[in-house]
Amino acid sequence: MSLTAAATARDRLRIAIQKSGRLSEPARALLASCGLSWRESRDKLFCYGESLPVDLLLVRDDDIPGLLADGVCDYGIVGRNVLTEQAGERAERGLPQVAFELRALGFGGCRLDIAVPEEWQWEGPAQLEGRRIATSYPYLLQNWLREQDVQATVVTLSGSVEIAPRLGQADLVCDLVSSGATLTANHLKPVTTLLQSEAVLAGPQVPFADARAELAQLLLRRLEGVLKLKDSRLLLFQAQRSAVPDLLKLLPDAEAPTMMQVDGADTLALQALCHGAMTWQRLEDLKHAGARGLMVVPVERTLA
Ligand code: PRP
Ligand code: ZN
Repeated sequence: MSLTAAATARDRLRIAIQKSGRLSEPARALLASCGLSWRESRDKLFCYGESLPVDLLLVRDDDIPGLLADGVCDYGIVGRNVLTEQAGERAERGLPQVAFELRALGFGGCRLDIAVPEEWQWEGPAQLEGRRIATSYPYLLQNWLREQDVQATVVTLSGSVEIAPRLGQADLVCDLVSSGATLTANHLKPVTTLLQSEAVLAGPQVPFADARAELAQLLLRRLEGVLKLKDSRLLLFQAQRSAVPDLLKLLPDAEAPTMMQVDGADTLALQALCHGAMTWQRLEDLKHAGARGLMVVPVERTLA
């Protein structure tokens, strides 16, 4: 299928995701858990939606905001770092905002950090005055430098930022840090954070005016359900009626529990959907507060 032909067909949704890289597998897995399945094109750049008319376009992450701006794609799964950088650049050029962060997706966490040579004694942003900083995020960096009231030279590189100091192109870098291994390998150390990033769903803030509207709603609703359940468990237990107020205090992350009366008026059976991690410690605490027969049950699906 040619892309131009597909771009004019407005009864299918098209989502851009990273072709290869840290976000690519988790993005696909997340969409698959929303009930989507696809048939891949031979060049593996396009996945045709089979279970629903929702197609995937596999691209470079940096291209995703542009594809959304051009209307080639309806949604994108992209790092907040890439989205904010390009939104800032568009704003500076006086262009309207088109791709918004609709939902943080809880994976691909990383930071945009200033990193300096290991031997530097870090004293604060003022130390960067007059220095050359290599980055792929010139807008975010300039913005931060302005806030810090620091004058420095921004050296924009599209990749291999971390070796710029060794090559003499810059004195330090402003780059993404996830495990920190890349910095360490290049004898750099992170000293301050400009942006906390993770994968986000990016797209328009206004509903679509055609058949995509209903499809988009369905997808966002399923996505919400999947994300909400990520750490969720159904907790089952019994307790004396008098113990219930204390027990509920231990479940601040639970939705209003269902309570049923068992034998007589005093014993209740409770079931509560909890959204936080259900650790052994929490179960011990609940037991001490009077919960009996505690059971933690995984939850497969929810639909609001
Ligand atoms: C980032 C960044 C570093 C690396 C850091 O690149 O530019 O090279 O990850 O990760 P680490 O702290 O775990 O070593 P990324 O993989 O996001 O690719 P891209 O920026 O070229 O898209
Ligand atoms: Zn990239």
